[in-house]
Amino acid sequence: MKIAIINGPNLNLLGKRETDIYGNMPFEKFFEQVKTKYSQVTFSYYQSNIEGELINELQRIGYEYDGIVLNPAGYTHTSVAIGDAIAAIKTPVVEVHISNVHAREDFRKLSHVSGKSAGSIFGLGLKGYELAIEYLLSLK
Ligand code: DQA
Repeated sequence: MKIAIINGPNLNLLGKRETDIYGNMPFEKFFEQVKTKYSQVTFSYYQSNIEGELINELQRIGYEYDGIVLNPAGYTHTSVAIGDAIAAIKTPVVEVHISNVHAREDFRKLSHVSGKSAGSIFGLGLKGYELAIEYLLSLK
């Protein structure tokens, strides 16, 4: 079972970025816990601040992996191209947001990703990544 986690812009700053919204845990530390908890899964992790690089990664793994957990961060609300990439690939994508995007500014209510994804999780903190993994495991 191969699952990819892909994080978009500014998520490399988790743990020091707006900690009241996103919490104190650096993603690398959380990812170590995830790998231990789901030791039966082969994970890849990719983070980029650049839209085209996220699309390249989706295309690279999107015909090979069993599942993708994607937090496109700010590109969620702007990127038609990331939505198109999700529609193009075969691997199911679960969209995850740490914060409750529907309880924040209006511009965060629009997602170009939700309609192309298997499902979406928001507002449950880093736990959302684990719930997405659980869902992808249930498909096997
Ligand atoms: C986010 C929500 C986005 O609106 C924001 O731009 C992010 C993080 C989240 O995980 O809550 O960078 O995707």
